[in-house]
Amino acid sequence: MSVGTSSAPGSREARRAPASRPPGERADLAGLGIDPDDLPDGLVVADEHGRVICFNAAAERVTARRAADALGEPLERALPLEDLEGRRWWQLTDPYGGLAIRVRQPERNLLLPGGREVLVSARYVRVRPTGPVHRVVVTLRDTEARRRTERSHAELIATVAHELRSPLTSVKGFTATLLAKWARFTDDQKRLMLETVDADADRVTRLIAELLDISRIDSGRLELRRQRVDIGAAVGRHIQAYVAAGQPADRFLLRVQQPLPDLWADPDKIDQVLSNLIENAVRHGEGTVTIDVTPAASPREGEDAGTSVTVSDEGPGIPEESMNRVFTRFWRGSKRGGTGLGLYIVKGIVEAHGGTITVGRAPGGGAEFRFTLPVAAPAFLA
Ligand SMILES: Nc1ncnc2c1ncn2[C@@H]1O[C@H](COP(=O)(O)OP(=O)(O)O)[C@@H](O)[C@H]1O
Ligand SMILES: [Mg+2]
Repeated sequence: MSVGTSSAPGSREARRAPASRPPGERADLAGLGIDPDDLPDGLVVADEHGRVICFNAAAERVTARRAADALGEPLERALPLEDLEGRRWWQLTDPYGGLAIRVRQPERNLLLPGGREVLVSARYVRVRPTGPVHRVVVTLRDTEARRRTERSHAELIATVAHELRSPLTSVKGFTATLLAKWARFTDDQKRLMLETVDADADRVTRLIAELLDISRIDSGRLELRRQRVDIGAAVGRHIQAYVAAGQPADRFLLRVQQPLPDLWADPDKIDQVLSNLIENAVRHGEGTVTIDVTPAASPREGEDAGTSVTVSDEGPGIPEESMNRVFTRFWRGSKRGGTGLGLYIVKGIVEAHGGTITVGRAPGGGAEFRFTLPVAAPAFLA
């Protein structure tokens, strides 16, 4: 049986990598007890005729091609790679023709049709040094994930710069005007300008505090100082603060279902979660803001008790198609101020506690946010 041409392209046989490799090669991988499909990187192998004899699962994922289609095809058709200048890579490198001492192609960033970027390196296996190429072994790595994080960092910086600029422009504008024309303004005008400056300075401070939280969340450095938390009382304090600041008391409804399991959490962080959710309900929602505190099944498997907090309002709610985006940074649905960071931080804090958060539609029509925290009692009490 001649190697590499044995399996019909597209057949089931061909898809199963072991059947498509010669016995010697198979022993190597099989000796380790692994299949090419177990490799984390894409692996494509071509035989001495340049026909593909192995196209593993990761290669399918990276190229978005099916192994069944690629097997048996010439390498340049199965992997139509181009460099960033649009030149066909296989023609350029000519593995079967080029210098007979060449054994590899170093890792390069190349493009697949449709602009898909891949990190490619290749090795030419020769029967003997300077002999003809017996196998071309190509590994493929997806650069998409790395690109995405790079892009999201770049976007974050651009957005942050933009968010900081508008309040600072206003601070600079008002202070410059006041300094230049102090005597020409009435006390009321001066007060109004200083109030705007004050509010804008608050906004910058808040934005920076939120960004620091985000960097802690993103880098997994969010520290939790767990204590026993009475979450019903915490919600009560937030409501009192709103009422003291002028919201009508009947705008809020707090329902605590007893008995609740003990809750061990970081009280400051939980306050931050509550403050964000209640503020959103007041600012983006309408009508009565209802907060339900109930015992719940723990979001962690194997633990049976947890606490759920549901914050719902009677406003316009979150459109169905945006629900999966509310927890992403800088997503803002309405124009009512805000940085769009609040819910991202809320989710980060809840998840750092081992909890979960979901968004849905409230019975009253508005938005409904529910988070569930596990008891998380410290080990010394267990
Ligand atoms: N209770 C709510 N009702 C309607 N929309 C909401 C509610 N809570 C949040 N949203 C929407 O989700 C967006 C993101 O919220 P958030 O991350 O807290 O940012 P911010 O409040 O700073 O805009 C808000 O801009 C708003 O459009
Ligand atoms: Mg908010």
